[in-house]
Amino acid sequence: MNIKEGIEKRFSVRAFTNKVPKMEIIKEILRTANAAPSGGNIQPWKVYVLNEDAKNNLAKKTLHNFDNGVQEEIEYDIYPKPLDDIYKKRRSECGADMYNALSIGKDDLDSRFKQIRENYNFFGAPIGMIITIDRSFGNNGWGHVGMFLENLWLSAIHHGLGLCLQESWSIYPKTVKEHINHPDNEIVWCGVAIGYEDVNHPINQYRTKRENLESFVKFID
Ligand SMILES: Cc1cc2nc3c(=O)[nH]c(=O)nc-3n(C[C@H](O)[C@H](O)[C@H](O)COP(=O)(O)O)c2cc1C
Repeated sequence: MNIKEGIEKRFSVRAFTNKVPKMEIIKEILRTANAAPSGGNIQPWKVYVLNEDAKNNLAKKTLHNFDNGVQEEIEYDIYPKPLDDIYKKRRSECGADMYNALSIGKDDLDSRFKQIRENYNFFGAPIGMIITIDRSFGNNGWGHVGMFLENLWLSAIHHGLGLCLQESWSIYPKTVKEHINHPDNEIVWCGVAIGYEDVNHPINQYRTKRENLESFVKFID
């Protein structure tokens, strides 16, 4: 697969088979991701890899929180407040496409809730990751970690794996810290559910849309 094909093939995988990737493959994926560029080559990313047991322990506690309405003090807003209408529209279209793929109706709040809950089970992936960054970095540093994450994704595809990034883990920073024991100077950005794609699961069948070039590029003469 060439680079263009990898980029175009990439999508968020939210259902996995039971096959557990060998830790050597996970390490290889991380080594490749680590080739990502960063300003001044500062490499500000930190990755915590949770094997099946560690992942299950974190999932169990977090699902308990979720089911019991436990709220933790969040450390960043996932979306700006307020979110402009143009972005709201894209977000709701993306959600609608996912629920359509699962044949979950607009008013079926129970099923929608169950699907959101799956975030905290790493969507059933055999391996989980938590991505943190040193708190001292502002927006610019977070962007550099983004370079790493796209590399991680493409490298996973190269090795026949799929993944979903999960900012949903930022809702439970205290619980995450209890399980990965990251230093106080790090902030949890997101999680990663990674494993072999369940190619037959309906949630993996739809693809999100993109805006056309004119909507985000201005060619200046
Ligand atoms: C930083 C980041 C965090 C994300 N967090 C979540 C998440 O918590 N839960 C989820 O289901 N998808 C999450 N996603 C996946 C996006 O919803 C997805 O990338 C977007 O809808 C485009 O779809 P695609 O990845 O299939 O192309 C996240 C994506 C990114 C880049």
